[in-house]
Amino acid sequence: MIGTGVTEMIQGFSRLSRDEKAELVASCTRNPAGVEREIKYHLLADEDKQKVYDEFSENVVSNFYLPYCIAPNFRINDRYYFIPMVTEESSVVAATSAAAKFWAKRGGFHTRVESMIKPGHIHFVWKGDPGHIREFIDRLRPGLLDSTTSLTQSMTERGGGILGMQLNDLSDRMEGYYQLEVLFNTADSMGANLINSCLEGMAAFLTNQAETAGISDNLQVIMSILSNHTPQCTVTCSVTCHPDQLAHHHLGLSGFDFARKFELAVNMSRVDPFRAVTHNKGILNGVEAVITATGNDPRAVEAGVHAYASKDGVYRGLTRVDLDPGSFTFRIEIPVNIGTAGGITRLHPLAEVSLKILGDPDASGLMSIASAAGLASNFAAVRSLITGGIQKGHMRMHLSNLLNQHGASDEEKQAATEFFRDQPVTHTAVREFMSRIRHKA
Ligand code: MEV
Repeated sequence: MIGTGVTEMIQGFSRLSRDEKAELVASCTRNPAGVEREIKYHLLADEDKQKVYDEFSENVVSNFYLPYCIAPNFRINDRYYFIPMVTEESSVVAATSAAAKFWAKRGGFHTRVESMIKPGHIHFVWKGDPGHIREFIDRLRPGLLDSTTSLTQSMTERGGGILGMQLNDLSDRMEGYYQLEVLFNTADSMGANLINSCLEGMAAFLTNQAETAGISDNLQVIMSILSNHTPQCTVTCSVTCHPDQLAHHHLGLSGFDFARKFELAVNMSRVDPFRAVTHNKGILNGVEAVITATGNDPRAVEAGVHAYASKDGVYRGLTRVDLDPGSFTFRIEIPVNIGTAGGITRLHPLAEVSLKILGDPDASGLMSIASAAGLASNFAAVRSLITGGIQKGHMRMHLSNLLNQHGASDEEKQAATEFFRDQPVTHTAVREFMSRIRHKA
């Protein structure tokens, strides 16, 4: 199979050892020795530590490193933080840190967790009288709750548990479609496993009771799963100052002119989905970097954030500006469904370190921190878009990536940094620069 790619079905791949998997995969590439070496090079020398990572997922052959960065000077609710951020995108951490410092001098970020309610659903099809299923579910309510007690006991002791339950009739959207919606408070854990286990337990009870009642032909449970749309698990975060404190001296913009331009830019994201998606991506640059650094699930948060952005039926930017001659407020309200216990938050060695750096926050504390990182990265992005443009700073940071692609030595990097101080950084310009200096040498 060497160099020919994968030419046939492979049986029993998962049963191979980690090294055997790596060797087999490498053997299908054009550079088996090089690929195998690289895969193995990124394994940890300490086998016990490596085992921790191996057990997070399946068919692990190596580790994929991303930069682990720190954004200093975050003042949130009058307390200072170093915020760990995991991101590969150049300039995000620098820009977010600069925005954090800017706002620290102006009172910092103020946050409020609105609520921490998370929904899950048993999706089922009911063929019959809507009144009948309503009565049936009402009758089963205590039994449905009882079917979860062994699962929710420790959650209840930590202040969480099941908060409520309701039948949703969606048969106007799809024939026979009903849901049993269950609302959870999962305390300091994100709670995905708990919610899904409770729902599956309740669904088994429901199916069983339908059989006993002789209506199993009318009721078919299709699936039981939490929802990543968590509009009741939100946090608000804001910064405020006098518009005069926003003056952009370099561009000769008065504070109010800057604030007005900033407000217009933010408002554009409130009315145009093309702009809104990119605007929200700038928020997620900050939020997701914190989510990843703390071992939470960025995909769940991202899906929830986008759903929330569309809650009025139109996709909108998630930040807002309130401006009057005496005051500028910039704020965000977002769902952030995360935890500080459970999952890999305490198993991933660096996630645990992140939580320690953050002072061991509870889930609501981490929601606040993530929202501040999101507001800061959005502020930084919009500020640079409406002033010098995004590319200048971005490409400067990107210069080192481009130089690494060319295998630049330290000396060459120094010369390039000097040269590109007042030159636009483009792929072509860097390539030409490298070939020029190498030609001279
Ligand atoms: C780039 O990662 C993020 C931005 O595109 C966000 C924005 O446009 O607001 C700069």
